[in-house]
Amino acid sequence: MVGQVMTQSLEGKRILLVVGGGIAAYKSLDLVRRLRERGARVRVVMTAAAREFVTPLAFTSLTNEKVSDDLFSATDEQEMGHIQLSREADLIVVAPATAHLLARAAQGLCDDLATTLLLATDKRALFAPAMNVRMWLAPATQRNVATLRQDGALFAGPDDGEMACGEYGPGRMSEPLEIVAAVEAAIKADTRLPLPVPRTDGPLSGRHVIVTSGPTHEAIDPVRYISNRSSGKQGHAIAAAAAAAGARVTLVSGPVTIADPRGCEVIHIESAREMFAAVEAALPADVFIGAAAVADWRVEAAAQKIKKEQGASAPSFALVENPDILASVARSPKRPRLVVGFAAETRDVIPHAREKLLRKGCDLIVANDVSEGSGVFGGDANEAHLVSHAGVESWPRMRKESVAERLVARLAERLAKSEAAE
Ligand code: PMT
Repeated sequence: MVGQVMTQSLEGKRILLVVGGGIAAYKSLDLVRRLRERGARVRVVMTAAAREFVTPLAFTSLTNEKVSDDLFSATDEQEMGHIQLSREADLIVVAPATAHLLARAAQGLCDDLATTLLLATDKRALFAPAMNVRMWLAPATQRNVATLRQDGALFAGPDDGEMACGEYGPGRMSEPLEIVAAVEAAIKADTRLPLPVPRTDGPLSGRHVIVTSGPTHEAIDPVRYISNRSSGKQGHAIAAAAAAAGARVTLVSGPVTIADPRGCEVIHIESAREMFAAVEAALPADVFIGAAAVADWRVEAAAQKIKKEQGASAPSFALVENPDILASVARSPKRPRLVVGFAAETRDVIPHAREKLLRKGCDLIVANDVSEGSGVFGGDANEAHLVSHAGVESWPRMRKESVAERLVARLAERLAKSEAAE
């Protein structure tokens, strides 16, 4: 017999399938098969309750992928963090979506891997509910469904029919092929969640703020790179604080493992030159904040992996200077009204920051001591000094989020003052 040739409508698409704990979980095995037939790559995450109905082994056999279920698995985090897992997918499908899973997702709870992924994702989630008819019709469930819809979630079903419990009515999980059709439609439309509309009554409402954050990776060859210890925590906190203050925020982020802040347009780059191009493309802006630890130098990357030959001497590299993004923005014809740099110093913090303020043509420098033991690179706290042409304001050690809020408040005051003076 000649098999039917399937259209590869989901070729190259990555589906993250969250399997909840209900009897309909057995149908999700067929759903995986149908999705794979259409060219999708499926990765499965199971809740603890789901494992009572089907085994992880069944999903592993069908997907050829590891099944994840543990939020705190050290090996999983090393291989692929939960943030990355949710971001790499083109769509998250929750099938079966039990009443309990819907309730947790609607409330933003993240007490297991499944719900953490749903909260951390920037993609839409498609829920295929499955529960008893009374549970589906219960006002609490209907409220949760309405909340999730408002937040951009999509739904497939539930269908009417006879339930495993013997009752009849809406609550039965849709058939796998119906869910596949909903997946295809969602993929065809944009599966990214829309950015929330910035608030109109914040101190930075109506402003465009560009923030750089994290390290850059400068390739040595296809597998090696030069970088530094920046985690992006400080830059991302600033982007989040500016967005909370009502600004439209473009965050240009180097490779980091932390989540994109909500409410910001995030452009992911790798190298200093890519960061520079992304910043230039994002101009004009009212404020530029360079919090990224941009690599000062790069090497001319080799096209192939540099081989370690027996007996050969170690390779040496000539360093080439990277563009100075901060200095270029400060001298650009599109110069934002406020240009704010950072100075990461290990000694003479304030004098070095003053020198950078002048040399790079900034309005303000946030100086921080990154010497060994300060815990600033990668840590949660910072002790910053705001250096301007008028003087220095030293802040006590505080959480990076508080540094960000304080900085954003100062920037809003400065913008308002400079406009009033015109
Ligand atoms: O990411 P975290 O772990 O939270 O750590 C936060 C931080 C220590 C990275 C942050 O607070 C910080 O100090 N960022 C700036 C790091 C840095 O590269 O400093 P610098 O003194 O080398 O550079 C001075 C300024 O020029 C910075 O604004 C930098 O973004 C900018 N620069 C540097 C080189 C370059 N080629 N282009 C640039 O724009």
